[in-house]
Amino acid sequence: MKQSWPLAQMGLGAAVVLVAVVGAALMGLNAIISVVLAALVIGGAVLIGLRRGDLTGTSGGRFARHLALTAAAVFVLIQLVPYGRSHANPPVTGEPQWANDETRELMVRACFDCHSNEVVWPWYSNVAPLSWAVQRHVDEGRDEVNYSEFDQDQGEADDTIETILDGEMPPGYYTRFGLHSAGDLTDEEIDILVDGLRATPGLDEQDDDDHDDDDDD
Ligand code: HEC
Repeated sequence: MKQSWPLAQMGLGAAVVLVAVVGAALMGLNAIISVVLAALVIGGAVLIGLRRGDLTGTSGGRFARHLALTAAAVFVLIQLVPYGRSHANPPVTGEPQWANDETRELMVRACFDCHSNEVVWPWYSNVAPLSWAVQRHVDEGRDEVNYSEFDQDQGEADDTIETILDGEMPPGYYTRFGLHSAGDLTDEEIDILVDGLRATPGLDEQDDDDHDDDDDD
């Protein structure tokens, strides 16, 4: 027996996956988790359609409604996951000897939300799956370098200036969609920051790696 493909439904399913993948890339969500969530939504909608026997209507309108329903259910259910809710800020035990106040202020604006124990948790850090993404960025960020625990060895601290000059940090998703506009430093502010960081011990690679930093004083 020949069965025609439910094209509208497949298109809708593909759209859900696309939104998940693109959304994850733009917002710094984990792509695998995002696709799993999309699969749950689609799987749920297919199940509802199968049970009601209306999965393969030609317009796909019913399927779209079922997708909306399962999306809402998945959204509510994932709020029960405890990961990302603690919003902890451990004690500050030591900071770099900042060259001046402005250096610290620019670092706070652009970096401290992931690399410090003074994270300002945004409202959406209460809403899964965004809360998971924020938690992961903070966990991984603190792991690389924590400017609030500078009394201990901070492995990647000597890459600080380099990541800024390369435009790697802060990450693109941090300031996308007008989020954290204070962390979106202008070229002038970056110049001021890098000058200050060069005059702050422990943040440059010049000790172990002699690249073209000949303008150092
Ligand atoms: C939104 C969170 C976030 C912000 C804001 C942020 N970082 Fe990061 N940073 C991360 C994450 C996550 C990693 C680890 C993964 C990676 O390297 O992309 C990281 C890695 C790093 C590393 C180690 C990577 C390497 O190549 O050695 C340095 C150094 C760093 N960040 C410095 C900074 C500085 C300086 C700022 C501010 C100008 C900043 N970061 C802002 C999240 C952030």
